[in-house]
Amino acid sequence: MRLHVADHPLIAHKVTVLRDATTPSPIFRQLTDELVTLLAYEATRDIRTVEVDVVTPVAPARGTYLAEPRPMVVPILRAGLGMLDGMTRIMPTAEVGFLGMKRDEDSLEIETYANRLPQDLSGRQCFILDPMLATGHTLIAAINYLLERGATDVTAICLIAAPEGLAALGEAIGERANVTIVCASLDERLNEHAYIVPGLGDAGDRLYGVVDL
Ligand code: URA
Repeated sequence: MRLHVADHPLIAHKVTVLRDATTPSPIFRQLTDELVTLLAYEATRDIRTVEVDVVTPVAPARGTYLAEPRPMVVPILRAGLGMLDGMTRIMPTAEVGFLGMKRDEDSLEIETYANRLPQDLSGRQCFILDPMLATGHTLIAAINYLLERGATDVTAICLIAAPEGLAALGEAIGERANVTIVCASLDERLNEHAYIVPGLGDAGDRLYGVVDL
């Protein structure tokens, strides 16, 4: 497993505004969108391409297109949805699949409550979108889900990661597949409620407001 913590002043600035508890949802959504586009630039560095011939108004040229099969972008509902537009804007030819996963707040176990993905992901480069890599349980479940369907190359784009989650992920996934984590910040730790410290709170709530069920 590889980890890439994006190191750029624009990214650091936007993360700082996200952290601020007084930042309202509309600004939070806009900054998340912008951050994903910046992180996607790093996350797609090894995307597969093919060489092609094109003819410019001046002369023939060799160029590069994204290879088939098309990359698969997988936002984890609900908070990952806030990252989808930023990703598809930079990679409009990608396909989008959905995974609905949530953490039971008492047991901290992960439940899959929805999925919309092709059965066969062999040969597809997959990009998971999930803003907070906290315990790692959600991401481990999501990556396992994709690997069971034949994916071998998975990149997770997160805004903030915790060391505990990265360790759990490394242990659970090992060298079974080519897994990369790209994040904007590696924070200190988890607290007793499995929130990232200092983090930014509940990303879903900050994006969409609190839902009481
Ligand atoms: N999920 C969040 O939204 N925030 C955290 O800090 C941890 C998990």
